[in-house]
Amino acid sequence: MPTLQFKGKNIIWNHHLAVPFHTLDEVPELHYQPEKANGNMIIEGDNLIALKALLPQFAGQIKCIYIDPPYNTGNEGWIYNDKVNSPLIKEWFGKVVGGGEDLTRHDKWMCMMTPRLKLLRDLLTNDGVIFISIDDNEAANLKLLLDEVFGSENFIAQSVVQLNPRGRTLDRFLAKTYEYIFIYGKDAANESTINLLEKSGKALDAYKKVDSNGKYRELELRNRNPVFHRGNRPNLYYPLYVNPSDESVSLIQDENHKVEVFPVNSRNVDGCWTWGKDKVLENKNLLVGREVSTGAWRIYRKDYLIQNGQKALTKEKALWIEKGINNENGKERLNELFEHNLPFDFPKSIELIKKCLILGTNENDIILDSFAGSGTSMDATIDFINENEVNRKCILVQMTESNEAEPDKNICKNVTRERVKRAIDKYAYESGFKYYRLGIPLDAETMLAGELPTYQQFAKYVYYLCTGENLETEDKINEADFYVGDYGKQAIYLIYKQDYETLTRLALNLTLAEKIKTQQPGKKRIVYAPSCFLDEEYLTDNQIEYVGIPYNLFQRNQ
Ligand SMILES: C[S@@+](CC[C@H](N)C(=O)[O-])C[C@H]1O[C@@H](n2cnc3c(N)ncnc32)[C@H](O)[C@@H]1O
Repeated sequence: MPTLQFKGKNIIWNHHLAVPFHTLDEVPELHYQPEKANGNMIIEGDNLIALKALLPQFAGQIKCIYIDPPYNTGNEGWIYNDKVNSPLIKEWFGKVVGGGEDLTRHDKWMCMMTPRLKLLRDLLTNDGVIFISIDDNEAANLKLLLDEVFGSENFIAQSVVQLNPRGRTLDRFLAKTYEYIFIYGKDAANESTINLLEKSGKALDAYKKVDSNGKYRELELRNRNPVFHRGNRPNLYYPLYVNPSDESVSLIQDENHKVEVFPVNSRNVDGCWTWGKDKVLENKNLLVGREVSTGAWRIYRKDYLIQNGQKALTKEKALWIEKGINNENGKERLNELFEHNLPFDFPKSIELIKKCLILGTNENDIILDSFAGSGTSMDATIDFINENEVNRKCILVQMTESNEAEPDKNICKNVTRERVKRAIDKYAYESGFKYYRLGIPLDAETMLAGELPTYQQFAKYVYYLCTGENLETEDKINEADFYVGDYGKQAIYLIYKQDYETLTRLALNLTLAEKIKTQQPGKKRIVYAPSCFLDEEYLTDNQIEYVGIPYNLFQRNQ
């Protein structure tokens, strides 16, 4: 198999593991109608750190991801800012990508995308799906990268989306009207990765016939495709017998079922049926046999519009050309919300995101957009909820884009947040969101420098580091007893205070160990603490495992 190579690949391939966990801190003054937030979050900051910070709460919990990263056109001037410890990457750090003769701009883009895609994958549910907008600049590279991160077996489609029907006038030779959306599943073998859709419009017109079971259409039982035939599908080649007076079909020839019919393909040579004999036997009442104008006899199966109480479903097409998804609509909506002072250059249409919601989410699912821009994904989610009286949650991540020249620039607060707030107000949506910033890193250096997370924040991370799973019921965390939570036959404790002075004196000592022993009987106790005054023998005898903080914090994860 061809392998993907780019400058920096070896250095960044596992970089996501080295990114420290940070706390996610609420900024209550920037919440909007938090009592109606229902899980909606806007996170201000770099998405590499934000995605890592989301893991302890959301690993394996996100059903649908939509991202619209910088397309790396050579003009948009994004900055590679990931703090990777290597001379090559340090040389790239902080410089605008694509300016002048930047021969490594594709390598930088791949280095930027790789750790983010890996974290996004970790956040997806087993039946989760990711939709990624991209154009010709990086489509080929992105496909190879996605094949490697998600597995080529999880590729679902490279949908062509017509976002600009008039064509981009600045293009050379041909005015492009399209972009792509790459669609990958976390495990595309999982049936619930993508929803089938209820048939509508023309597809419904085919159900013209009616009997006592309702509306139906007739489909030929023979496989017309010449690729399949008697030679390679011998078990699907057998005769059926028709009773000409009532059109009924049988596997056995009798005095009524006299007309023998064999399957022929579109070239009129020996083909095969689409059903085996067992299926025919089970569903005989769905079959009818009829003579056609050429004098040949054909077998049809009835395909009902409503089967087992559910309307017939169909697969969405991979070519997306409906009008609603045009970029023009994205601009129009943003213009309406900002009194024609467009605050963001290329907003997507909410209809495009709603299409992803239809295909990739169900009741109560979470959608995440970590390149949120003007906040289209949350606006679309809230609109979708309102329109269909359903429930979804949305998480957005957007950096401030501040820099030396504009230290106070804050796109997340002034565009992303403001747009969603304005949409809620204008359309009277019963929704809100909570606003977050990235806090301190949870690493030894920061903690030794005296910057400490709250007990609750640290407990969540410790639980995730210890188990690789999220703590489902945070309310069971008990700071007084240093108790974090249970995981199968393990009980997890954290001996910790958000106070540096106290922390230097805290230890797993005999008094605490004896207290812990009386709780959670029969379970192994994993105790995270700054130090331990007990010997190995006592710990082993009492089924206690000690993990030192902050130095050995990550040892159970490795
Ligand atoms: C193409 S725009 C997304 C537009 C969005 N879909 C909309 O409809 O408005 C990409 C966005 O990703 C943001 N971005 C780029 N790199 C980022 C990073 N490392 N962390 C967070 N946001 C980032 C950019 O600031 C920009 O707003």
